[in-house]
Amino acid sequence: MSTTPEFILVNAQYDKHIALIQLNRPKELNALNLQLMGELRDALKQLDVDDEVRCIILTGNEKAFAAGADIKQMAGKTAIDMLNIDQFTTWDSIKKTKKPIIAAVSGFALGGGCELCMTCDMIIASETAKFGQPEIKIGVTPGAGGTQRLTRVVGKALAMEMVLTGKFIGAEEALRAGLINRVVPVELYMNEALKLAKEIAALSPVAVKLAKESVINAFNSSLDEGLQFERKNFYLLFASEDQKEGMNAFVEKRPAQFSGK
Ligand code: CAA
Repeated sequence: MSTTPEFILVNAQYDKHIALIQLNRPKELNALNLQLMGELRDALKQLDVDDEVRCIILTGNEKAFAAGADIKQMAGKTAIDMLNIDQFTTWDSIKKTKKPIIAAVSGFALGGGCELCMTCDMIIASETAKFGQPEIKIGVTPGAGGTQRLTRVVGKALAMEMVLTGKFIGAEEALRAGLINRVVPVELYMNEALKLAKEIAALSPVAVKLAKESVINAFNSSLDEGLQFERKNFYLLFASEDQKEGMNAFVEKRPAQFSGK
């Protein structure tokens, strides 16, 4: 039995083939408590098997994408509490989402908030976005991938500085560092994310899914393993109607209509 989520808003039909999830704890700057993360995991699981949905946008509000894991919820916990709760297993499930997720980020994307947008596949940011891993300032380290994903994306020098000092970087610096895809004025960041989502939603969903899988695999495999994996996904797509449609449409000089089959 599914219940209405309390801390996120989900619109499975935000636009044609595009779903929107909005983190919705504005007073707490969308601090990611356990319930919110559970709701997010469940929503993504549902959207991932919804045939109508081809791309998902994840956003917060203008002031905050998310200011991190909920410090108030964690403050009094013991190590054994943390082991038993094992909050980051929720993140493992989010990471398994097969459809592309675009993070539309404005304002703070800190700690778990920065880690959450790095778990997404692309990031569109407003000029006001601030990214950071400030956990060191509260006596801990990133725990949901910050030391790993950030380092792989921006390199050791900047990752070390951000993780060891907790300094924030603005959207322009994040763009230069390769952390995000685009920076736009604050009034345009949702439009820009939608534009990108529409572009992806018009393509073959089965090819998009396997393309995402192959790119993610680049982080988890040697070059040779990754190349083999990519090759098998390429061959596999010749079992799809979308491959026939895409290639025939090219030959016949007409726009392709992809069905996801
Ligand atoms: N957890 C819980 N509550 C939070 C929060 C968080 N991560 N971030 C903000 N809030 C709450 C504040 O406590 C405040 O609540 P009250 O009104 O009840 O006091 C409300 O949101 C508004 O915040 P501020 O008054 O602090 O707003 P500000 O504009 O002055 O400052 C900020 C904004 C710089 C983001 C500041 O709130 C801040 O530093 N937040 C914490 C950032 C942080 O350390 N994040 C990492 C968390 S640990 C983590 O994420 C671990 C991991 O790897 C998963």
